[in-house]
Amino acid sequence: MHIALAADHAGFALKEEVRRGLEKAGHRVEDFGPASEQRVDYPDFASAVARAVAGREVERGILVCGTGIGMAIAANKVAGVRAANCNDLFMAEMARRHNDANVLTLGARVIGSALAEAIVQAFVATPYDGGRHQDRLDKITALEDSPSTCS
Ligand code: RB5
Repeated sequence: MHIALAADHAGFALKEEVRRGLEKAGHRVEDFGPASEQRVDYPDFASAVARAVAGREVERGILVCGTGIGMAIAANKVAGVRAANCNDLFMAEMARRHNDANVLTLGARVIGSALAEAIVQAFVATPYDGGRHQDRLDKITALEDSPSTCS
């Protein structure tokens, strides 16, 4: 699978481990950085990966920050992205089966590297169930073009 990967300073070390694991498993990884633990702003990295996913330059994206929350909030601002913050295996499996999540976000201050590796493996290997879930995803997609206010 072709996967875009990025982090912020809090997620840098785990991103390096995730990249090594993905490459060892035979995946093609586009690393959008950063290249060190120097302090950065996570929206800059979330947007790069989210746009690569939305533009279909890659099949999936993975983002790592302290909690995974900021990366998910930022990535989900990009139309076409369904980012899920999954810090356990059940969430990763459900994010794929029910939500067809195309971006996984991880919290490096929440989980260890062995669990992160298992979550990543579930995220890349679990197919979307489709069926009854598709109408719901279509409604989410429709929100991208709907007004943000009630009036
Ligand atoms: C950085 O300190 C931290 O706020 C960031 O990595 C992330 O956890 C935000 O959601």
